[in-house]
Amino acid sequence: MRTALITGASSGFGLLTSVTLAKSGWHVLATMRDLNRREKLETAARNAGVLERIEFLALDVKHADQIAATAKLIAERDEPLHALVNNAGFAVPGFAEDITDAELREQFDTNFFGSTAVTRALLPQMRRQGFGHVIMVSSISGRLGFPGVSSYAASKFALEGWTETLRYEMKTPGIQVVLVEPGSFETDIWTRNAKLTAGLQDPSSANASRVPAWRSHIEQGAKDRANPQVVADLIARILETPRPKLRYVVGKDARMALRLRGILPAGIFERMIVKMTGMG
Ligand SMILES: NC(=O)c1ccc[n+]([C@@H]2O[C@H](COP(=O)([O-])OP(=O)(O)OC[C@H]3O[C@@H](n4cnc5c(N)ncnc54)[C@H](OP(=O)(O)O)[C@@H]3O)[C@@H](O)[C@H]2O)c1
Repeated sequence: MRTALITGASSGFGLLTSVTLAKSGWHVLATMRDLNRREKLETAARNAGVLERIEFLALDVKHADQIAATAKLIAERDEPLHALVNNAGFAVPGFAEDITDAELREQFDTNFFGSTAVTRALLPQMRRQGFGHVIMVSSISGRLGFPGVSSYAASKFALEGWTETLRYEMKTPGIQVVLVEPGSFETDIWTRNAKLTAGLQDPSSANASRVPAWRSHIEQGAKDRANPQVVADLIARILETPRPKLRYVVGKDARMALRLRGILPAGIFERMIVKMTGMG
């Protein structure tokens, strides 16, 4: 039986990927920062008849000691780890001008430093085996900046640069390194897990007058969010691909945004984004 470790398995893509892989016969190490939040995954796995293939482990990707303990546990089992899905992440919406150092660092701590630390801790196991897939759940925001999500985009752009480099470095050891770049999908990321910056709620901010238009654009977009199962299915397919590509863009909105940026003159594309998001 193949084994996959997934971070942030308590909701959204992580939860769905855990169940999807278990249904395909994988043993899933479903990690989450708070094991009290395991119930949703437990229920979904039970309903799918795959609960016995899922092992719940505590892992906050910001905690070096928990990362080390997870890597130790896997090494001591003396069984291969076929896949690592770095999925844990969240967003700190707010205008770039207003963001504090602390908010920016908090965003990077999980989305960039967390994902890279978990990967570095588990690569020795994959090197020993001589195989393995490492999937980084990035975002369309790892390819395009967008008003109001500068910190999130910065953390994902950083992840993209690191991952692209790692891919070259891991070719010879036989480890496949992949970026998944979703557009907008219906998960908890923009609701329960969105941590609005203080600046976004500060009436004295230079950007305060832009907030209503920006919010209404985001709320409008929320109506079109896609079914996150598509992303879980894509991850499952990538794990079946012996030599996957570096990047997988997923979601109509993400593909459309990249296409438009590719074909439109830069000035027109920028004006379109500024207008659409209430920035001008
Ligand atoms: N949904 C989208 O539209 C979208 C688009 C592009 C990319 N993404 C990316 O997809 C990934 C998954 O997000 P999602 O959309 O599925 O959102 P979600 O439903 O909010 O799930 C995020 C998961 O990450 C976990 N998490 C957050 N901080 C963590 C930490 N420090 N350590 C361990 N786990 C942590 C959350 O745990 P708790 O349950 O404890 O909060 C939750 O399980 C993220 O990397 C996100 O950036 C999402």
